[in-house]
Amino acid sequence: MAVAVYPGSFDPVTYGHLDIIARASAIFDRLLVAVLENPSKTPLFSTQERLEMLAEACRPLPNVQCEAFSGLVVDYARSRGARVLVRGLRAVSDFEYEFVMATMNRHLNAEVDTVFIMTSSEYAFISSSLVKEVARFGGDVERWVPAGVARRLKERLAASGGRPQPWQGREAAP
Ligand code: COA
Repeated sequence: MAVAVYPGSFDPVTYGHLDIIARASAIFDRLLVAVLENPSKTPLFSTQERLEMLAEACRPLPNVQCEAFSGLVVDYARSRGARVLVRGLRAVSDFEYEFVMATMNRHLNAEVDTVFIMTSSEYAFISSSLVKEVARFGGDVERWVPAGVARRLKERLAASGGRPQPWQGREAAP
């Protein structure tokens, strides 16, 4: 059984991520979408919230499971019997960062390879930060994120008076 891990921050998940998830789930027998806990970025949504949004969006894909992980992604992959990491490539600008990460991961565990999927062109310019910024200034983000995510963005940003209110590691929403 070919198991792959698609790791990321997913703060929040966008249609760009979901495009990669759907295509990877058609290639591998099982896909684990792995949400990094305690990233160096300060997330807007808690790990639990990010997982809930992902799980809801991935419900139509029965071979996709969403989990949180901390520590090295290669250790997480090994613990799940996965030998492939999936990453999306949006533009040339992603290449250098992804090249360094894939090379480091191979140095850490030569049994784990990274497979890249080119992001579909309609999502090539999206990032979670950009979506948050558009939402923060009242723009419509439903073209780029599922309706449930757009709603949570609105609620979270409204609660902070339009300013992003970074998640600070507490387990219940503020
Ligand atoms: N469509 C839309 N947006 C995409 C995308 C796609 N296909 N692919 C990436 N992005 C965006 C994300 O939204 C994110 O945008 P943001 O910066 O505005 O939030 C950005 O690209 C990169 O995010 P992501 O893919 O989540 O990567 P990351 O840099 O946040 O996290 C990990 C990368 C989690 C894979 C990496 O840090 C990791 O493995 N950490 C664990 C520790 C470890 O093992 N370290 C050694 C690794 S060498």
